Amino acid sequence: LNVMVAAVMKAGRSLSRDFGEVENLQVSIKGPGDFVSAADKKAEKILIEELSKARPGYGFLAEESGISEGTDATHRWIIDPLDGTTNFLHGIPIFGVSLALEREGQIVAGVIFNPVMNELYVAERGGGAFMNDRRLRVAARNTLADAVIATGIPHLGRPRHDDFTRKLNRVMLEVAGVRRNGAAALDLAWVAAGRFDGYWEDAIHPWDMAAGILLVREAGGFVSDLSGGDKMFETGGICVGNEIIQRRLLATLAGR
Ligand code: IPD
Repeated sequence: LNVMVAAVMKAGRSLSRDFGEVENLQVSIKGPGDFVSAADKKAEKILIEELSKARPGYGFLAEESGISEGTDATHRWIIDPLDGTTNFLHGIPIFGVSLALEREGQIVAGVIFNPVMNELYVAERGGGAFMNDRRLRVAARNTLADAVIATGIPHLGRPRHDDFTRKLNRVMLEVAGVRRNGAAALDLAWVAAGRFDGYWEDAIHPWDMAAGILLVREAGGFVSDLSGGDKMFETGGICVGNEIIQRRLLATLAGR
């Protein structure tokens, strides 16, 4: 965890500096509605350099550079150097670095850092979840009518728009509020912190969710894919909350 926190904070400080001069950054388009900037690339380079120095041989799954096999087949870093790229490029201070460590296919540590709000989220399997050293618990609200639920809205170039609007319609009618913050890793961290009561999204990537899944679980929350199984990485779908909210949200999304 010390290695992870040091690497994430270094990458986060780099993002902070670039955020101050966001209008001068070089931006390229990965696909419709999907951007990458010099800031993402710089932050990813910092993470890969720091982690390779500290743990030579571990493999990587990183948003910008993809998969690289390590000599150690049991460990893999999962990296999103800048979750919330669109926010970042619009000067919206809701973005962060997300880093998880997988051991034999299981997420064993996760760190998420929002450098603007100076919020550092840390979780280790079996060791609890923390934000800036404060222990986290998911919210205790147990009816959807009291709940604030976060989600992600598909954009240009993203599939499943109709499916999303159907699901949103169902949820809207049951809950106290729906939010779209634009950074999946932070959405998960905010569920762990009890700010959001639940969160669902479809078509996100392992790097958006790996660290956040562990944070939610270690804060006492429940996590599944959109069918109630544990194929979040494979399907890109995720639904989280405390035990009751997670179950009710899943049922509402499915129209039950
Ligand atoms: C995106 C954000 C956003 C979610 C998108 C993700 P990125 O990640 O997490 O909230 O709705 O699906 O791709 O591209 O900014 O790392």
